Amino acid sequence: MSAGDGAAAATARAHPNIALVKYWGKRDEELMLPAAGSLSLTLDAFATTTELRLDPDAAEDRFELNGEPQSGERLSRVSRFLDLVRERAGSPLRAVVRSRNEAPTGAGLASSASGFAALATAASAVYGLPQDPASLSRLARRGSGSAARSIVPGVAVWHAGDGDDSSFAEAVDAPELAMVIVTVDERQKAVSSREAMRLSARTSPFYAGWVTSTEESLAEMLQACRERDFTRIGRITESHALRMHAVIQSSEPPVRYLSPTSIAVFDAVVALRERGVEAYSTADAGPNVAVLVRPGDAPAVAEALAGFGRVRAVGAGPGAALLPADAARGGEP
Ligand code: ADP
Ligand code: DP6
Ligand code: CO
Repeated sequence: MSAGDGAAAATARAHPNIALVKYWGKRDEELMLPAAGSLSLTLDAFATTTELRLDPDAAEDRFELNGEPQSGERLSRVSRFLDLVRERAGSPLRAVVRSRNEAPTGAGLASSASGFAALATAASAVYGLPQDPASLSRLARRGSGSAARSIVPGVAVWHAGDGDDSSFAEAVDAPELAMVIVTVDERQKAVSSREAMRLSARTSPFYAGWVTSTEESLAEMLQACRERDFTRIGRITESHALRMHAVIQSSEPPVRYLSPTSIAVFDAVVALRERGVEAYSTADAGPNVAVLVRPGDAPAVAEALAGFGRVRAVGAGPGAALLPADAARGGEP
């Protein structure tokens, strides 16, 4: 049984992205339109693999993550997303979604980005929705804002846009970038990105300044990418991350994602720069730190930071993609 022009099942793979200019705040929660544009690097590691299979007999969607049946908010987030897909496809059919994250879930390593980029890609194939990158990016955005950027390979800009049609991510020319991911804590954060960002928008006295300065940082970052100016890209990245965490900490009640170990990594990276190694820190909504480097410096920086947690050198990764049916059967999520 199939819906629209789709097939009964599809498997997609997507990678997380780490923002260099952060998305932190929505101007429209329903349409998931961001308060400002953002820019990120899609990674070549920590993939999510998601299989979606129609179940013509089911009354509800099912969602299994890392082999565990999900309920509550995780299930309803997937199901609400599929409601939107069904509405567009004109299909009543429920689905079984089986996903595997290679990154820890909800720990600030962008599992919602790879997760909803993979789900949007698999669901569009199965329910017969448009599969061009801009359409996939717009759809992925509705599941998680940052997922709009994981549709795109390498460096991606997510345009704030004027509305639903124009708020999607696309590739940006940039110098070759790599990151050293320092995993200091794999546990799920106490406050999700969605809740914390809502709280910042509602209560931080710095929020208005944050939104304006993000637009400025993005314009500067795009210029630095065009000019292939790694130093400028790195400086903007680190300053912008610290600004975002300042806004998050200034919410009421305050939220703090960075742990003492995260801060120690930021300090160690400053020390590396003083020794002439160009590295710059950033962290999304969690304690784990991503250190931006030139690809050639990744092994040395990984070695220097190994004492702080698990380190992994990663590069620019591919956009979200369907797996061929044969590969999908072999690579069970
Ligand atoms: P992260 O820093 O990992 O992106 P978030 O708080 O933004 O943390 O999002 C975590 C939530 O994203 C999970 O609780 C779950 O609802 C959703 N999520 C994570 N991985 C997947 C996946 N593979 N498929 C669908 N939803 C996912
Ligand atoms: C700190 O995309 O996870 O990683 O749109 O509510 O799902 P929702 O939030 P999410 O927020 C990401 C926040 C960030 C910065 C970024 O990725 O740009
Ligand atoms: Co997220």
